[in-house]
Amino acid sequence: MVGAAPGRRGAGGVHRVGGYSPAMPNARNPQSRPWWRDAVFYEIYVRSFADANGDGVGDLAGIRARLDHLVDLGVDALWLTPFYPSPMADHGYDVADPRNVDPLFGDLTGFDALVTDAHDKGLRLIVDVVPNHSSNAHPWFVQALAEGPRSAARDRYLFRDGRGRKGSDPPNNWDSVFGGSAWTQVGDGQWYLHLFAPEQPDLNWRHPDVAADYEQTLRFWLDHGVDGFRIDVAHGLFKDPALPDAPGSSLDLMADTFVPTPTWNQPQVHDVYRHWRSICAADPREPVLVGEVWIGDPSVVADYVRPDELHLAFNFRLLFARWKPQLIRNAIETSIDSLSTVGAPPTWVLANHDVVRQVTRYGGGESGARRARAAILLLLALPGPVFLYAGEELGLPEVELPPEALQDPVWERSGHTIPGRDGCRVPLPWSGERPPYGFAPPGTTTWLPMPDDWGAYTVAAEHSDQDSMLRLYADALRQRRTQPALGDGALEWLEGPSDVLDFTRPDATRAIRCILNMSAQAIDLPDQEVLLSSGGLPDRQLPPDSAVWLIA
Ligand code: BGC
Repeated sequence: MVGAAPGRRGAGGVHRVGGYSPAMPNARNPQSRPWWRDAVFYEIYVRSFADANGDGVGDLAGIRARLDHLVDLGVDALWLTPFYPSPMADHGYDVADPRNVDPLFGDLTGFDALVTDAHDKGLRLIVDVVPNHSSNAHPWFVQALAEGPRSAARDRYLFRDGRGRKGSDPPNNWDSVFGGSAWTQVGDGQWYLHLFAPEQPDLNWRHPDVAADYEQTLRFWLDHGVDGFRIDVAHGLFKDPALPDAPGSSLDLMADTFVPTPTWNQPQVHDVYRHWRSICAADPREPVLVGEVWIGDPSVVADYVRPDELHLAFNFRLLFARWKPQLIRNAIETSIDSLSTVGAPPTWVLANHDVVRQVTRYGGGESGARRARAAILLLLALPGPVFLYAGEELGLPEVELPPEALQDPVWERSGHTIPGRDGCRVPLPWSGERPPYGFAPPGTTTWLPMPDDWGAYTVAAEHSDQDSMLRLYADALRQRRTQPALGDGALEWLEGPSDVLDFTRPDATRAIRCILNMSAQAIDLPDQEVLLSSGGLPDRQLPPDSAVWLIA
């Protein structure tokens, strides 16, 4: 059994742009737990959610017009991907001005209106900050190029002379997560570091301007009413100052190994998050800090969520676990155990804008959809906050796009060998029988093409089908909100056949049991009341690749 840390509660409060007042309090002891400990966050990839102005790209006004979908679905908070001024080399993760809105997405007044409406509807809203790098169009980088080698302006980034004769080789062997070298040479012969695309130069976090500017950015968005931040590449900010060669590729070092690396996870990063936590702690609305911490060793991730650092860190263990009972159970146990030492709740996620959609990952077609239905019941029964990705509630599959449609920088940088992440970023279908399915006004060409056969996946179609993925998500979220046992708290495994995952979420009044049948045969259900199931239960049996919630 694993227990949860004691909760604490911050006072409510009003900020400049409409303070949050929960329209729909949940039943999970709201008096004693901070809101983020068991919130359900919903990631909106802004380009792909809803396009109000008909340019084919989603925007803030589109989100605002569709908030009722999220209220009906029953999520607690929205996470918006970057919408700041950007040349869009990495669709907004290359930020040229972190304290404004790109005209493609709207303007600051529109952002304020969105925050106010979201709060009025009982939804919190967090924004994405991208501290590891800026855009190459950021005024600092433009200045750094103009002022030349060894200028003070260059010191805000990681410019170095090259190795080899005439410095024509990069300063070290680091590669970019997106493929190719992590160094690009500029006209005067120096090289600059970019762990992602060349249009995303890494900032030098040892320079005081960088930290000071980021503090301004956080305060700016807090003044605009946001309820927290998702921190992009949160483990990346500092590099080993000697910039030695790395023992492997940046991607492998980030995700797969436990090897200390000069590229990621330098100890100084924790001072930054301690400071950011103090900024949030001074705000009565308890804004949350969620780090995208890609580190293989879970005990190292735990360091990022010590009580005076980030509140939450993404946990991708379940997302990367193949559909095998031992792997899934191990992902759950390791996630819970590794964080229990610091009192932070584990977080759970099956999808985001960087990975293949789960219906496809789990095998595609009918079988992939069945597993995805079972997986969401598993996910929502686990202790701690959950992150959903727009479109998973519709059961959207990954889209295989024609090469000429691909826009992810990974496609170019891999020499057209890796298609990249566009397949999970196709715009959302809302209604109708053909593209753009209500995503944009009729006749609009969308930024990525939408499949011709998505009529059955629209929000409208799934609303009127009681067996749809959407109805399952909404039912499960409603139960999660009203059952005190679900959300934050303890989890107790019940031992049985190794290919059946079976656990209880204890509660003083009503415990909930979750069973996921990963065996090849249907299994008899225990004599307990069924609260919800991922599919039919013929003869009171749980079919393979199905899950059920019972009142224990
Ligand atoms: C984001 C990606 C982005 C990268 C560089 C990531 O972790 O989720 O979408 O390309 O950071 O900013």
